Amino acid sequence: MKIITVVGARPQFIKAAAVSRAILEHNAGSNNLITESILHTGQHYDEKMSAVFFDQLEIPNPKYNLGIIEKNHGAMTGKMLEQIEMILLDERPDMLLVYGDTNSTLAGTLAAAKLHIPVAHVEAGLRSYNRSMPEEINRVMTDHLSSFLFCPTQAAVQNLNGEGIEQHIHNVGDVMYDVAMKYRSIADRRYQLEQWQVEENSYILCTVHRAENSDQKARLQSIFYALNEVAAEIPVVLPLHPRTRKMLKEFNLEYLLDPLHIIEPVSYLEMVRLEMSAKAIITDSGGIQKEAFFHKVPCLTLRDETEWVETVELGCNKICGANKDVILEKWIEICRDNDMFYFLKEGRGLPYGNGTASYKIVEVLTANDC
Ligand code: UD1
Ligand code: UDP
Repeated sequence: MKIITVVGARPQFIKAAAVSRAILEHNAGSNNLITESILHTGQHYDEKMSAVFFDQLEIPNPKYNLGIIEKNHGAMTGKMLEQIEMILLDERPDMLLVYGDTNSTLAGTLAAAKLHIPVAHVEAGLRSYNRSMPEEINRVMTDHLSSFLFCPTQAAVQNLNGEGIEQHIHNVGDVMYDVAMKYRSIADRRYQLEQWQVEENSYILCTVHRAENSDQKARLQSIFYALNEVAAEIPVVLPLHPRTRKMLKEFNLEYLLDPLHIIEPVSYLEMVRLEMSAKAIITDSGGIQKEAFFHKVPCLTLRDETEWVETVELGCNKICGANKDVILEKWIEICRDNDMFYFLKEGRGLPYGNGTASYKIVEVLTANDC
């Protein structure tokens, strides 16, 4: 079977690392070979936003790199669509594999669906029910055009059912959990907290990059006011996404970075190391909310809703939006609660699977060889 995998943004490299490895392992023990070629749209292009993940997570080098850097969604998605279509016409793969909810996901899906090439969507069924988010539009479109829907959670399955999608759904668990479990002890051995001048359980890890926060001055300012107050109590380490750096400059808010411990975006293993030892994580990232959960670290989410509802239902992730007072109120709540992960002692079944999602995906793909 011949597969083309489309990736473009940081979280997709991490998810693809799990499945590409499972494909290689499958090939080592089977005659039913999968030939995977990686197509990188170029959406993320800085060394620290792209190449570092390919190197560190040993992701096969992309066969194609489209180098598409565009600011506007239409131009970015349109250029990707045009170029991906040409490659698909030339390669004629049996399947296209996409991850998550970025513009690269949508462009790959549209190109393949129009050419009647089956699409397999990893991280299907996630919904925020907020259509002002570009990611929500990308997810809905992708799910409705996909032939294989690999859901990370039961809630995702129910979301699809709610939209009338009943077939070809596989609740395999979360590929990000596979990656987190694989690299946790390696990260612990390889990186020391001293490199960031912090100590175990004595700092906050923070990330901010969502368009709804970075591109609205009032929200961005309010978030950074809150972070400045938290930083008066405990160091706040923030690997700064290039989008947020650019917008802080544009809004003349760069001075709000001064009280924070700002670092460049870090590699995946460094991020895992920082996550594991943080007292809490404050983020608007989808992936990092889950990683906080995987590493048993309380999380404050700088969004008005989340797709990862299980973490909120279990009480270890608190939705804060971008309001400074709410963020600080929830910060006090998590400081007072020293047993946010009490449910782990109750032996309840946990969401996100058992760390074998990527193997299950490969099993389904090979069983349905197109
Ligand atoms: C994209 C995804 C978002 C995901 C995020 C992961 C969409 C609509 N958004 O958002 O869902 O959570 O990736 O990080 O697909 N930039 C650089 N260097 C880079 C990459 C980006 O400088 O390597 C800057 C550019 O100025 C660019 C801006 O960041 O215009 C935004 O990048 P873009 O890929 O459009 O969106 P993200 O905010 O990264
Ligand atoms: N990440 C990383 N280095 C960083 C910030 C994030 O390796 O400096 C990883 C993080 O551990 C997670 C993924 O990138 O696995 C999340 O990506 P991001 O927050 O950019 O996107 P989202 O998940 O919100 O789409």
